[in-house]
Amino acid sequence: MSIAVFGGTSRIARAIAQRWAEDGHAVWIGARDVEEAERIAADLRVKTGVNAVAGSFDAVDVGSHPGLVAAIEEAVGPLGCAVLAFGDMGEIDEDHADFAAARRVIDVNFTGAASLAEAVTAKMSERGAGTLIGIGSVAGDRGRQSNYVYGSAKGAFALYLQGLRNRLFKRGVHVMTVKLGFVDTRMTWGLDTKIPVAAPEQAARAIHDAAARRVDTLYYPPFWRAIMGVIKTIPERAFKRLSL
Ligand SMILES: NC(=O)c1ccc[n+]([C@@H]2O[C@H](COP(=O)([O-])OP(=O)(O)OC[C@H]3O[C@@H](n4cnc5c(N)ncnc54)[C@H](OP(=O)(O)O)[C@@H]3O)[C@@H](O)[C@H]2O)c1
Repeated sequence: MSIAVFGGTSRIARAIAQRWAEDGHAVWIGARDVEEAERIAADLRVKTGVNAVAGSFDAVDVGSHPGLVAAIEEAVGPLGCAVLAFGDMGEIDEDHADFAAARRVIDVNFTGAASLAEAVTAKMSERGAGTLIGIGSVAGDRGRQSNYVYGSAKGAFALYLQGLRNRLFKRGVHVMTVKLGFVDTRMTWGLDTKIPVAAPEQAARAIHDAAARRVDTLYYPPFWRAIMGVIKTIPERAFKRLSL
């Protein structure tokens, strides 16, 4: 079986691709920066000997997604697994004066992700097998003033995946939601926090192992499940007074 990793220039995505390649699976790496995707694919070919192919992919170009999935399957064979690893926190100013920036965050993290999920699982569903892994965020568990546009898009994506998992369960397709806490990538560059930040390789290992066990929802690092459990219980009238 083969795997497609969308958002392939992310360090987490690269580590995930490496894990599956080490198992001997053919890999398709999709990114906006095709030259970088090609370098990543070449590295995988050398290190693991698998068929690794790079291609162009833009989350917001939803019209291209069904054709893209067909082209990927031509290149690396039927997809046994697809990982939606792309994400964009955007740069939204404090006054939220520019809705275009907010819309882009929603388009990438929710609309683009749901569109690709539909295209990929349509094929898996026809075959009655496959795994879709959606990379979400603990930011989607509760709306906070500091990042609620990104959080709402990731939260909507988690809800979407929940319904998709429910629909596809009887068709042999597994859908796994990953809720990441802090991982050391471009997205968290310069982050000043006392909360431990995980390495991308650790996150990839946890995702790989959880997919094998057909876990429904993975929090990584795992302690984030407890943190978000507590955060979700804070009453709204107290929560809105906090500066989170
Ligand atoms: N790092 C964390 O602490 C953390 C926490 C929670 C969730 N996550 C999630 O983890 C995933 C990986 O992120 P990361 O931390 O590795 O950050 P990253 O390095 O910024 O990776 C984000 C990836 O998304 C791609 N991307 C953004 N917009 C895209 C678009 N329109 N079309 C196609 N690809 C697009 C980027 O491609 P380009 O190279 O072309 O920009 C990049 O490969 C994301 O879903 C993110 O939301 C990360």
